[in-house]
Amino acid sequence: MKITVRGVRSVDIEMSQAERAAEFYGKIWNLAEIARENGSIWFRGTGAYHHILAVHPAKGPAAMRRLTYDAANQDIVKALHQKVIASGCTSEAPHEITGPGGGYGFGFIDLEGRNLAVVCDTRDHKDTADATDRPRKIAHVNLNAAQLEKSNAFLVDVLGFRKVDHSGPLHFFHCDNNDHSSMVMGATKTPTLNHVSFEMPDLESCMRGGGRMRDAGYPIEWGPGRHGSGNNVFCYFAGPEEFPIEYTAEVLQIDDSYEFHGPEYWKWPPGRLDQWGITPPHTARWKRIQDMVLFTPGTYRI
Ligand SMILES: [Fe+2]
Repeated sequence: MKITVRGVRSVDIEMSQAERAAEFYGKIWNLAEIARENGSIWFRGTGAYHHILAVHPAKGPAAMRRLTYDAANQDIVKALHQKVIASGCTSEAPHEITGPGGGYGFGFIDLEGRNLAVVCDTRDHKDTADATDRPRKIAHVNLNAAQLEKSNAFLVDVLGFRKVDHSGPLHFFHCDNNDHSSMVMGATKTPTLNHVSFEMPDLESCMRGGGRMRDAGYPIEWGPGRHGSGNNVFCYFAGPEEFPIEYTAEVLQIDDSYEFHGPEYWKWPPGRLDQWGITPPHTARWKRIQDMVLFTPGTYRI
């Protein structure tokens, strides 16, 4: 039995204007609303996960309430819980989940105060065909760590990730699926969110999504371009309340034979920021918002 997560299932975010944000994630970002309770709104992609995003009303600036990982079954959830407890994290015990999608799992606080959860046995969807212009799932979450080495070690030693690349300031982590990476880590003074990346079914949908966002008043803050590590195409945006989000596509599919490469391998020729050499530099706004969103303290129980 591999004691590991299978990827990022969902993120819970807090917005001061949750209804406005929900309208955006439904009509412009092109997710589909799946549940609504007490002012919170849940959205699915075209993939199997019951939901990939939950928007909760809250006072204050945009915030991360929780990041939830997927696990294969209850035995793995229980084993991961033991490892989380052994690492010294504050955690609740695994239990049946009563919220939208149900399931079995537990929430905990990692060593830098992030609210994380691991779940399985959720009421997932059978209709999983791709749809043009609609995200499938969360491709990856990029977090900023104040204690980078410790946070990276936690992903590997406790949650079962493998570090597959190190490019510039970013460390890429692969888990029990075929995507190149499901987590990306960088260093900052305060643990914050860098961005949440949503996977489009193809390049065309990623680019058309960029146009749809521009039409709606959300310009591209970085991109379009094609990353080196992971080989995925990208467009980055400031969503409602400047929450940092990405459309991506064509994520490199790998297996255990993939070989690690370090920063020397991933160097660009001078002036380039992507494989194609077409993206302008990050906007000042992107530089600001990619180190702005905090995890809400203590909202780890699921
Ligand atoms: Fe990304």
